[in-house]
Amino acid sequence: MTLFIKTSEASVKKAAALIRAGGTVVFPTETVYGLGADALNAKAVARIFEIKKRPHFDPLIVHVSSIRQARTLARVSAGAEALMTRFWPGPLTLVLPKKRIVPDIVTAGLETVALRMPSHPVAMSLIKKAGTPVAAPSANSFGSLSPTTASHARDQLKGGPDMILDGGPTRIGVESTVLALIDGAFLILRHGGLPREEIELVTGPLNTALKGGKRPISPGQLKKHYSPRARLCVIKKAPLKLKAGLKYGYLAFKSKPALPVKRAEILSRTGDLAEAAANLFSHLHKLDRAGVDIILAEAVPSTGLGRAIMDRLRRAAR
Ligand code: TXA
Ligand code: MG
Repeated sequence: MTLFIKTSEASVKKAAALIRAGGTVVFPTETVYGLGADALNAKAVARIFEIKKRPHFDPLIVHVSSIRQARTLARVSAGAEALMTRFWPGPLTLVLPKKRIVPDIVTAGLETVALRMPSHPVAMSLIKKAGTPVAAPSANSFGSLSPTTASHARDQLKGGPDMILDGGPTRIGVESTVLALIDGAFLILRHGGLPREEIELVTGPLNTALKGGKRPISPGQLKKHYSPRARLCVIKKAPLKLKAGLKYGYLAFKSKPALPVKRAEILSRTGDLAEAAANLFSHLHKLDRAGVDIILAEAVPSTGLGRAIMDRLRRAAR
């Protein structure tokens, strides 16, 4: 049975007690909702994979409430510390050499661990009250749309988690940017809530490891991911007409098309990419729920947060 409850001092306290006792809790962060467990308790972490129905063990992000706590889990170089100081708390995940205390199931056997300090007050308070780092992937079932509201998480995870903390819609709406330190150089493994341009102000020009070899370094690089039920096509501009006999959903960037679609949603009337990112997954959820066969999604400019949006749309389109 899952307890679904609004965030309050008391409910966060209860959630923290559940985490300490080896339970699982869905909680809001500034990016998307996470499905959390005590990162130092391998059995509790295993439950996360069971609930998400991940086909294999993928490494999880460990959420911390301070740089000091990060140091208990990973070796933090001067370069990594500079990024933490500048961007934490916030939507930046750093992949660093792990310390032995981190169970293998958290890192899927890798020698590195992904760390992030979230800026959402509920997430921070939960980690502090639990008194332990919290491992949490996005609170969706494997490969599906990411949850930007508590009810998205409830619909996908059914009765799995012990508790769902409802803190309203998330502010940023796409996952954190994942940055790895490999052989002394930083590499973007996943575009996300912190735009590349901002990181580059600190690091200088960055490479992106989005293509890589046969095996993705990071499962966020899986070609098909973040998918709605309906088929999704990314389009440059609205088509002149639609195929008969199909129900269309339309994800517009700035304005609705003059087309007989079943349902259309607008990412941002003013073309604001931050607003567009915040709306991305919740609009896709709505289009999916409208029971359409196909979703046409307009491309957005590939700068700043637009890169994370385009990344999610392309993977959803596979
Ligand atoms: O915004 C976010 O990052 C959300 C919230 C809940 O914090 N979390 C999230 O977690 O998106 P998840 O599990 O859905 O994505 C974690 C990403 C995956 O692409 C995973 O492959 C990568 O981080 N990752 C984790 N540990 C890694 C490691 N040691 N090396 C490389 N990639 C890693
Ligand atoms: Mg995910």
